[in-house]
Amino acid sequence: RLPKPFQVPLPIPPVARQDSAGLYRVTQRVAQAEILPGLRTEILGYDGIFPGPTFETRRGRPVVVRHRNELPVPTVVHLHGGHTPHEHDGWPLDLVLPVGNTREWRTHHGTGTRTEGERDYRYPMAQRAATLWYHDHRMDFTGPAVYRGLAGFHLVRDDEEDQLPLPRDDRELPLMICDRAFEEDGSFAYPALDEEMRSVPGVRNDWMEGVLGDVVLVNGAPWPVHEVDAARYRLRLLNASNARRYRLELSVPGGPNLPMTQIGSDGGLLAAPVTHQSIELAPGERFDVVVDFSRVLVGTEVTMVNGLGSGGTANVLRFHVVRTARDDSRVPDRLSEIEPLTPNPGAPTRTFRFTRGPVGDHRGWTINGTSFAPGSSLADSKLGEVETWRLITDVHHPVHVHLDPFQVLRRDGRAPGKLDGGWKDTVDIRPAEVVDIAVRFTDYAGKFVMHCHNLEHEDMAMMATIRTVT
Ligand code: C2O
Ligand code: CU
Repeated sequence: RLPKPFQVPLPIPPVARQDSAGLYRVTQRVAQAEILPGLRTEILGYDGIFPGPTFETRRGRPVVVRHRNELPVPTVVHLHGGHTPHEHDGWPLDLVLPVGNTREWRTHHGTGTRTEGERDYRYPMAQRAATLWYHDHRMDFTGPAVYRGLAGFHLVRDDEEDQLPLPRDDRELPLMICDRAFEEDGSFAYPALDEEMRSVPGVRNDWMEGVLGDVVLVNGAPWPVHEVDAARYRLRLLNASNARRYRLELSVPGGPNLPMTQIGSDGGLLAAPVTHQSIELAPGERFDVVVDFSRVLVGTEVTMVNGLGSGGTANVLRFHVVRTARDDSRVPDRLSEIEPLTPNPGAPTRTFRFTRGPVGDHRGWTINGTSFAPGSSLADSKLGEVETWRLITDVHHPVHVHLDPFQVLRRDGRAPGKLDGGWKDTVDIRPAEVVDIAVRFTDYAGKFVMHCHNLEHEDMAMMATIRTVT
C-alpha cells in the first residue's frame, strides 16, 4: 500500500504572486491531493495545496497577505520567525471564521478577535534574510490543522545575502520534512479526540507525547527523489513535523557520508559556516546548509537518512547525481555579522519549567505549572533589554519564542552545542536539560506567545503569554 521509497519526484511548491495592487491573496480550502500514488488524501491547504505556496519577500519591503477561510473551521495564521506586531502575529485566539459560518466558535482559553471570512495579515519584513514558515496557530487545534496541510515556506531575502556566491535558483531547495500516518483509503490518520476540530482539543491518551507517522514526506511527497547536478546545492531544511525529531545524514553507498556545511539557522546567516556530519532537528527548527554533490561520482545516489528513525522513518529523500555541470558558487569563510547578545546587568533572569501537568481536569502539558492563560503573562519583558531565560524540561520540548530570535548561551551550564549557533527562534531541549538563552524583544509592545513546538503539547496548553513593554 505504501509506495517504495525514492520513486516520487520531489515537488517544489509554487511561489506566491502579488496581484496588480501588490496584495498577496491566499484561499484556505479543502482539497484532494495525491500524496500516496493512486490514492486521494483530503487536505486543508493554503490555496488548496500542501505545502502552501512559498512566499519570497525582501527585507524592508512590507507585505500584506489576505487570507480567505473557505475551510469548515476557524483558522489563525502565524508567520513563524516573523518580526511581526501583535495584531498580525497570529495570536492563537484571534480567529478568522469560515466564510458564511459564524457559529459561536470558542476555545478552551477564552476568546480573542473574530474576523468573518477574510483577514489581512500585515508583515513589516523589517528583518534579515532567513527561512521562515507559516502555519495554522488556532488555539487547541494547531496539531490537526498543520497535520492536514496548513503549512508553507516564507523566504526572506536581502542584499547582504544576495551578494554572497551561494548556490541559487534551481540549486536552492526548500525542504519541508514531516511525518504522517495514513488510513487504508489514503486519508490522514490523526488520533484526534474531536475529528471535527470543533471543541475538544488534544489526542487519544497513547499520543500524549505527540503524534508520529510512519511515512516521511518532503514537500508533501513520500520519500521523494530529486535529480541533481554534480555541484553545490543550498538546502533549507525545515522540520514541520508535529512531534518527530530527526538526525539527518547524507549517506553515500560504499563511502563516507557527505558533509553538510551549515550557513544559516532559524534567524538567517551564521557568522561563519559550520560543517556537520549529521544534523538533529526538532519540530519548528530550520537549518540552512550547502552540500557539494561534486564530491561523489556522477550516477551516485545520495540518501538523506534519519538516524533517529526505524523502518520507513529511517529514510527521508534521495538525491540522484545525474550530470557534471559548471558551478560558480562557493561558501565564503565569513557570511555575516552576528551581534552577541549579552544579558544586561540587572535585567531579570526568568525560569520556565516545561512539564507534564493537568490542564483543567484533564491531562496536559504546562509551563511553570500552568496552562495557557491569555490574560496573565509569565513575563513582562522590556523592549530592548537582554534577559536570560532558563528553560528546564522533563521530556523533549522544542521551545519557540515569538517576535524576536534569541541566542543559546549555555546547555547544562556548558558552552552551547555545535548546532546551537546563530539566531534561533526554536531550541531543542532534551529530557531533564537546562538551557539558558539570551532574549531581546524589539520594536513591538504587546502580547505574544512562547510555547512548545511539539504541536500536541502546544494544543494541550504548553503555551505562555509574554508581554513586551516599553
Ligand atoms: Cu511555529 Cu507559535 O509557532
Ligand atoms: Cu513539549
